[in-house]
Amino acid sequence: MCGIVGYAGKNQAAPVILEGLAKLEYRGYDSAGMAVVNGDKIQITKSVGRLKVLEELTHGGATMPGTVGIGHTRWATHGAPSDANSHPHYNAQETIAVVHNGIIENYLPLKEKLVSKGYQFTSDTDTEVVAQLMDYYYKGNPLEAIIKVMHRVQGSYALGIVFADHPDEVFAVRKDSPLITGQNEEGCFIASDVPAILKYTRKVFFIENQEIVHLKADGMHFYTIDEEEIEKEPVTIEWDADAAEKGGYEHFMLKEMYEQPKTVTDTLMPRLKNNDIVIDELNMSDEDIRAIKKIHIVACGSAYHTGVTAKYVIEGIARIPVEVDVASEFRYRNPILEEGAMVVVISQSGETADTLAALRESQALGYKVLGIVNVVGSSIAREADNVMYTWAGPEIAVATTKAYSAQLIALYLLALKFARVRGKLDDKTFHEMIEDLKRLPGQIEMLLSNKERIQRFANRYVAAKDVFFIGRGIDYAISMEGSLKLKEISYIHSEAYAAGELKHGTISLIEEGTLVAAVATQDTLFQKTLSNMVEVKARGAFVLAVTNEGNTDIEKAADYVIYIPKTNSYFTNSLAIIPLQLFGYYVAVGKGCDVDKPRNLAKSVTVE
Ligand code: F6R
Repeated sequence: MCGIVGYAGKNQAAPVILEGLAKLEYRGYDSAGMAVVNGDKIQITKSVGRLKVLEELTHGGATMPGTVGIGHTRWATHGAPSDANSHPHYNAQETIAVVHNGIIENYLPLKEKLVSKGYQFTSDTDTEVVAQLMDYYYKGNPLEAIIKVMHRVQGSYALGIVFADHPDEVFAVRKDSPLITGQNEEGCFIASDVPAILKYTRKVFFIENQEIVHLKADGMHFYTIDEEEIEKEPVTIEWDADAAEKGGYEHFMLKEMYEQPKTVTDTLMPRLKNNDIVIDELNMSDEDIRAIKKIHIVACGSAYHTGVTAKYVIEGIARIPVEVDVASEFRYRNPILEEGAMVVVISQSGETADTLAALRESQALGYKVLGIVNVVGSSIAREADNVMYTWAGPEIAVATTKAYSAQLIALYLLALKFARVRGKLDDKTFHEMIEDLKRLPGQIEMLLSNKERIQRFANRYVAAKDVFFIGRGIDYAISMEGSLKLKEISYIHSEAYAAGELKHGTISLIEEGTLVAAVATQDTLFQKTLSNMVEVKARGAFVLAVTNEGNTDIEKAADYVIYIPKTNSYFTNSLAIIPLQLFGYYVAVGKGCDVDKPRNLAKSVTVE
């Protein structure tokens, strides 16, 4: 949801900013722009289109001299993608420029007020209101004006600001949108996310809500909204810049799919100790675990799909009731949380606005929240009462793959731990299940090595209009994710259905040749799903089946079969999703889609 970068240093700012923005383009890519302070003037270049348009316009930044500046890559919220709506926004005299990530909710009344005072607007954005309001309050002291603006605006923001009469300085501030800073001998940096500055420093300062940072080439200062200076400790980032590079793969998505065996290992192995599962981060005694009456899982998109899987797994083996909610629904449905309820939020980015709001809502109701989060230091990681990290490393492709796989592992571990403590699993089954978990990375690798077969199959479906994914139980959860992977990157309409539900209406959409992907990995439901496959085949569907090795019976009802290696039935999602990810990927590649940056999407959804 928009990326911002700022630099105050000894080197020319524009190339540094462009490089940083390139690392943030996953956050938004419909337009880009920069403002560089040059002498006592601010030079602004911005354009609709990908970052490369801005690179070309500025000859890689060469046309914008100056060592202090800010930049932006946009995911449009207010105002369509256009040159005028691109950031930076500025005041009439072009002496103040602002880049913004987030939404200013009260921008309309503020705009009306400013218009009544003679201000003229050139864009449809909420951000321009910030620039004009800053102008209104600015009397030569940037900090003072920024604080006044902070008191007036409502909503979420990470702002980078430069003032022509403070040519060596960059200011930044945040509320509910991520912002980090860092420093090396060459200067100081701000950014929406770590990859933008990782080339320059591994020591990163996380800016908290309503904190202000003031950067100069030789250092930075942090302030509260009360203008009190504060000290901050840096966090050392462990992963290196290569982790956020494509490393020879055609797309980040392919690279990240290939990283899944490692991701699963990294999330799993540190929590297996002496034949047991140890999740210190839970901060729950056995007594606490035994006292859980219900688990509420809240998340969005693919993370929600891992929650749906977890419902089957936790209820199945730990016998604890689980409710799963989409975060944007949970936060407004006045949820009933009873005594003994535990809330788990799941988020790769740790910044998803609705998930963060659900976390806060639960805390306000007096419940502790466990965050299953990938990005260290993200808002959810910082605000959750306890955090279980998925050690997937940076995920750049907009469509999640490796973080999804890591979330599944974290949830299996929780289920097993709870089941064990509550006496629902005997020793033998528990240890067999752990052995099954340990085999997953090798099995995923094996499935990935079959990618050419999936690619050949996918090539036949680049012109598909509709695809249906069906399954029962955990297979239904797998279908949801398989369907999302396909539609979000290939723009082919697809739907996931509980296999038994299709005949209650949707089956009328099946025509001669419609592709139906049936997931049938649950032994107890196999025959039932098989019947549903026969039903769609009888209506002309072409049936692709994903099932366990040995289930050759399926060939009677399927036109094409992908077998996955044997594992415990609760863990089949981790394997069945691999061919479905590859299918979505290769259909999108075959159609010539921009796989890593699908239209209308952005990686980190920091607006509701
Ligand atoms: C789909 C996808 C999204 C995210 C969702 C939640 O491939 O990536 O559906 O899963 O936006 O994002 P996080 O996990 O960052 O909260």
